[in-house]
Amino acid sequence: MCGILGIVLADQSANVAPELFEGAMYLQHRGQDAAGIVTCGSRGRLYQCKGNGMARDIFNEQRMANLIGNMGLTHLRYPTAGSSAGSEAQPFYVNSPYGISLSHNGNLVNSLDLRKYLDETVHRHINTDSDSELLINIFASELERFNKSRVNNADLFSALEGTMKHVRGAYACVAMLAGYGIIGFRDPNGIRPLLYGERKLANGKSDYMIASESVVLKAHGFDNFRDVNPGEAVIILKDGSKPEFKQLVEPKIFAPDIFEYVYFSRPDSVLDGVSVYHSRIEMGNKLAAKVANFFTDKKITDEIDVVIPVPDTARTSALQCAVSLNIPYREGFVKNRYIGRTFIMPNQQERRSSVRRKLNAMESEFKGRTVLLVDDSIVRGTTSKEIVQMAREAGAKKVYFASCAPPIRFNHIYGIDLADTKALVGFNRDEEEIAKVIGADEVFYQDLQDLIDCCKSDTIKQFEVGVFTGNYITGVEDNYLQELEKIRAQNQRIRDAKKGLSVDACIDASDMVDVKAEVDISIYNRGDYA
Ligand SMILES: *[C@@H]1O[C@H](CO)[C@@H](O)[C@H](O)[C@H]1NC(C)=O
Repeated sequence: MCGILGIVLADQSANVAPELFEGAMYLQHRGQDAAGIVTCGSRGRLYQCKGNGMARDIFNEQRMANLIGNMGLTHLRYPTAGSSAGSEAQPFYVNSPYGISLSHNGNLVNSLDLRKYLDETVHRHINTDSDSELLINIFASELERFNKSRVNNADLFSALEGTMKHVRGAYACVAMLAGYGIIGFRDPNGIRPLLYGERKLANGKSDYMIASESVVLKAHGFDNFRDVNPGEAVIILKDGSKPEFKQLVEPKIFAPDIFEYVYFSRPDSVLDGVSVYHSRIEMGNKLAAKVANFFTDKKITDEIDVVIPVPDTARTSALQCAVSLNIPYREGFVKNRYIGRTFIMPNQQERRSSVRRKLNAMESEFKGRTVLLVDDSIVRGTTSKEIVQMAREAGAKKVYFASCAPPIRFNHIYGIDLADTKALVGFNRDEEEIAKVIGADEVFYQDLQDLIDCCKSDTIKQFEVGVFTGNYITGVEDNYLQELEKIRAQNQRIRDAKKGLSVDACIDASDMVDVKAEVDISIYNRGDYA
């Protein structure tokens, strides 16, 4: 999963880089692995700045001063399969034809075929394991077919149509053609989110933005916005003239990834017409009903003393769950905001797990009580286990654990690199066995249909829910999952090797254990809402 952003300013003499950077701050939760900005100045010259780490560390004042031009792209990378551990940061760039840059959010599932095609048929060199590099090269090869010295919108649209016929999987993208304009497009299932917006200026002209989440558009005063439709593209010319939209392929079943609502997006975003915040409130209501149902004949207030959220994503649902059950809600875990990735000095023993460094249990809220902990999901179970243990150490009498999402039993293949199937606590285990593994007295999982009901709207009735069912909306090639596991193992080896080096030894080894410990998406953005 990644954050992407593209802006064209109507004022040709203005520099867009400060806004691209500001926007990155609103999308940082979508990826802290690497960040990049590329801008396009006069005479089509591209200027870029990319690096591994957080946006605020990469884009300093001096580097920003070099980013010239009124249009550009931002990318924030989440460590998805193939893209992490040492590969290049995005936006990707190919010089032929015309100079193309691309920011991609998602994951392609026919990467082996694409790799073969690019090599054997169109003879393009691919230098990394990243499927985004495949995507930009497919687009470039489609555009090359016209064999023109200059292209127009119609050419771009038909090259994108060709691209969509080649690639399979999830992709929300912003691309930039040097000296021409920026292009937004979204896969035919609309798995990853993408929005387009306009900011009207006093002089009658407009600036335009394409972004992963509505919060960026809103924060930057782009009030007139809408979602890019599945299989649709939009081209915004550098001169800021009226953008052109085109439906390129028949939309398939509109199925946004439900994980955006459960965990990934900011609560203040509205994606495909559905408020993330409201979907999480509904998740709390449905979860409460599930818990109440378990204790059918008993009085719920005799069974549970207090509802406690696992910060931060689950807060919204946990509070609503407590309200719905008429049980007190308490903040039992306090987050240490300033723990990001911490340094380990060579030879230093790790004394505390990364979960314990990030969360502190308040004894007063646990002592002698039966607690219902609420989290957004359970992935490997390592974090949940630690949290249950912390609750017990703080004196909890009984610990129930509720998850806003159903059991995760399968790989996530569209850009949220959760874990290999076998590493998931839900793999081949029923709920009772999962409770035993994480040490809880009982686990309560949201039913899938309930979760879908929390997120659906008039336009979206279906979601990508492959992590729960194993049925993926685009289907997968037979060997794709094995390939994914191979790349993950390779990335792990690279990380392990880095741990031995003094320079890069600053990445906390235990932070790699669980994606939710590894990528602390709440510390920098969401934590401030609490
Ligand atoms: C591409 O265009 C050039 C110049 O117009 C022409 O000489 C060349 O033969 C064309 N190539 C192909 C493969 O059509």
